[in-house]
Amino acid sequence: MSGTALGLSSFGSKPIEEVIAADDKTFFQIYWLGSKDDMVARLDWAREAGAKGIIVTLDWVFATARDWGSPPLPEKIDVKTAVRFAPQVVTKPGWLLRFAWSGKLPDLTTPNLVPRGQQGPTFFGAYGEWMGTPPVTWDDLAWLRQQWDGPFLIKGIGRPDDAKRAVDIGATAISVSNHGGNNLDTTPAAICMLPSVVQAVGGQVEILPTVVCAAAATS
Ligand SMILES: Cc1cc2nc3c(=O)[nH]c(=O)nc-3n(C[C@H](O)[C@H](O)[C@H](O)COP(=O)(O)O)c2cc1C
Repeated sequence: MSGTALGLSSFGSKPIEEVIAADDKTFFQIYWLGSKDDMVARLDWAREAGAKGIIVTLDWVFATARDWGSPPLPEKIDVKTAVRFAPQVVTKPGWLLRFAWSGKLPDLTTPNLVPRGQQGPTFFGAYGEWMGTPPVTWDDLAWLRQQWDGPFLIKGIGRPDDAKRAVDIGATAISVSNHGGNNLDTTPAAICMLPSVVQAVGGQVEILPTVVCAAAATS
């Protein structure tokens, strides 16, 4: 992995093919979400679409309570949503024009989580399934690594021992990250975790920061 690579979130609102058509270096980001069969199928679609690699995100931890709630995220665009977001939309006339040009309302579902041609779940539909999936283990990650023969980035490493485990299962890169602290802001900052991780595995694996696009929402 060299240079800049775009990471398309599996919660993104654009099909991976469209994003790859815009940037053929796109990586596909996944969460441990659903059954193993679901995950294999998503990797197959990403491979067929030409994804250059996979990003497995671990830095969003489900706790009994978040420090901060989510900002308002509409499930669909209806009149109520349009009125609510109008003040923000007027500051982005370019987006509005592109929406108008496409001739249809933006689709806020998640097309990369389901087979082509099926309607993907809404963001919170997907989120609910994710929360209901048993947390990923290192054995699961080793299994997942075997399903993808190519660049495999583990995002959300924060400790030297986990960095070593990532190397052991064959990760090609790791990202030291705590998801910007936006779930638990008491977790150590990525910049503080970085030196011990570099000391543990520097030279054995690429170590980098990542920012994954949540939703390419323009139509
Ligand atoms: C609005 C928003 C949406 C995000 N969505 C995702 C996502 O879908 N997948 C993911 O792995 N990270 C996601 N992130 C986290 C970022 O990729 C990144 O971890 C975070 O901004 C902190 O940066 P850092 O990892 O360099 O510390 C999101 C962050 C924000 C602010």
